[in-house]
Amino acid sequence: MSDDAPRVARSSPYAIPVEAGKSYFWCACGRSADQPFCDGSHKATQLRPVKYTAERDEWVWFCGCKQTGDAPFCDGTHKSL
Ligand code: FES
Ligand code: FES
Repeated sequence: MSDDAPRVARSSPYAIPVEAGKSYFWCACGRSADQPFCDGSHKATQLRPVKYTAERDEWVWFCGCKQTGDAPFCDGTHKSL
């Protein structure tokens, strides 16, 4: 596996309450210690976080496995890991 491959932070999503109008930076690399969000640990890789702005107050299931095809959201891919 290349050092630039997204790491599985965990094999299930993170349910997070988001606030309307607020932006979040989802960790795409799997290296953040502040999952599911970016803490800057991607700097050693070519990977970058994915910005997401909430349209309303709601719960969002952010991908924890970093293999989703619908970043930053869980699309169920973790079930096949
Ligand atoms: Fe993973 Fe920033 S720490 S994308
Ligand atoms: Fe990654 Fe579900 S946690 S697809």
